[in-house]
Amino acid sequence: MTIPLHPRAEAHGKVIVLGEHAVVYGYPAVAAGLPQGIVLEASPRSDPRLPITLTIPAWDLDLELHPGSDHPVARACLEVLAHCDGPVTGWAIRGSSALPPRAGLGSSAALTVALARLVYGPGASLDDVVAASLAGERVFHGEPSGLDSRVAAQGGVLRYVRGEPPRQIRPGAPLPLCIIPSGIPRSTADQVARCRSRLEHLPSVVRPVLIAVGQAVESGIHAIEHGDLDTLGVLFDVAHGLLGALDVSSPALDRMAADARAAGARGAKLTGAGCGGCLLALAGDAPESLTAAFPSLRPLFVEVAAS
Ligand code: PMV
Repeated sequence: MTIPLHPRAEAHGKVIVLGEHAVVYGYPAVAAGLPQGIVLEASPRSDPRLPITLTIPAWDLDLELHPGSDHPVARACLEVLAHCDGPVTGWAIRGSSALPPRAGLGSSAALTVALARLVYGPGASLDDVVAASLAGERVFHGEPSGLDSRVAAQGGVLRYVRGEPPRQIRPGAPLPLCIIPSGIPRSTADQVARCRSRLEHLPSVVRPVLIAVGQAVESGIHAIEHGDLDTLGVLFDVAHGLLGALDVSSPALDRMAADARAAGARGAKLTGAGCGGCLLALAGDAPESLTAAFPSLRPLFVEVAAS
């Protein structure tokens, strides 16, 4: 008899609104759960001794979870299952997702959160699910802040500080977010290393940049809670500049940010690890101009509701 799994589990995607990279060093970040996440469905294989399979057609993933596998997704999933005392054989897991993978929208955290929920079931505590997800996230990069896993599990808009309970933020007005995928792949681990190397090279200059990112988060939360979209847009622009100073932007992202502003966005910044992945724009009064400005990149509009 193999260890049972629950038949279905879900998790959110995420977008970091403000605070990426600085959050690794204990400064606050604010992130929003995306309704586009993942759904996993588990069914028993014909023979319980057969390896677990993971198939996610939208991400071109079709894997067997073998202990010796060197595929990072297989290794991450095996870490999650081991953390949860889950099965090692006997299941076929199929996923569907509208999230682009490896684009900084929390695809790996969504996968590991949903996988933990297949083992633990719908009644599992958020803390248990996040701890299991982090066991998998460490395969992708050594020192995850935990933000992705928390938002994937909880959704909503959260103020997050590493090691502290997150605080739910209630927007005073709907947030018209526009996520524009650059189509350029990037590695979170490499980007975290770039920021670290700049900090180690010039600590007296770069530490204040991290502090300023944290301050932008606090001012951004105030703006979100008071529905002050113009100030939030300015903070997006400031944050993008600070992230450039941390060496995690790129000429392509800088151009996209300038194009988004020229198309009427209130502000624009990279989101997530940077050097690829996505741009996050705060749409202005005519959001359709952003679609027109990036015709081949298929912007994703997410309106975070006021509460
Ligand atoms: O993997 P991404 O693109 O969502 O970036 C993660 C955000 C970082 O702050 C760069 C790293 C972290 O662990 O929070």
